[in-house]
Amino acid sequence: MAGLAGGLTLDEAGLAALAGRLAAVIRAGDVIALSGELGAGKTTLARGLLAALGHGGEVPSPTFTLVQTYPDLAPPVAHVDLYRLEHPAEVEALGLDDWLEGGGALLVEWPERLGAACWPGRLWLRIEGAGGPTRRLTWDVPPAWEGRWPPA
Ligand SMILES: Nc1ncnc2c1ncn2[C@@H]1O[C@H](COP(=O)(O)OP(=O)(O)OP(=O)(O)O)[C@@H](O)[C@H]1O
Ligand SMILES: [Mg+2]
Repeated sequence: MAGLAGGLTLDEAGLAALAGRLAAVIRAGDVIALSGELGAGKTTLARGLLAALGHGGEVPSPTFTLVQTYPDLAPPVAHVDLYRLEHPAEVEALGLDDWLEGGGALLVEWPERLGAACWPGRLWLRIEGAGGPTRRLTWDVPPAWEGRWPPA
């Protein structure tokens, strides 16, 4: 995989702070893939990012709805959880490409469900270490994110 590799070890407050740094650089049309096992902290990171963008309400896990949108943010964000996706082709029915073309950004939990159909320009964040107090966060940075990630 091309791009800068790197990583950080973070407690929950550190993960929230990192989500804030992500909020400072996210742009229209961005896709952020949040990879990691059950309970890794993908939704926790998404909550931190949405809060840093100014969302003040609840952030329900979209495990059953698959997509939860936050249209009033800048950029508008769709929080997606593909855990229950049975086949990559099912993603087309979710209208995510239209969301991106309309100036939205995507946060995608369980991006592995898409296989090769995952957006090539996505920032790939991986969280490991579910169950303990800290998490190991690693990433793969595509050209579209060079200069924006990793945080200084
Ligand atoms: N350092 C940490 N970073 C993130 N979460 C942490 C950390 N330490 C403890 N936690 C806890 O781990 C849990 C992570 O749950 P979360 O719902 O974010 O996981 P998830 O990756 O979205 O899981 P799922 O695949 O089920 O959607 C939360 O209860 C959170 O409080
Ligand atoms: Mg989750």
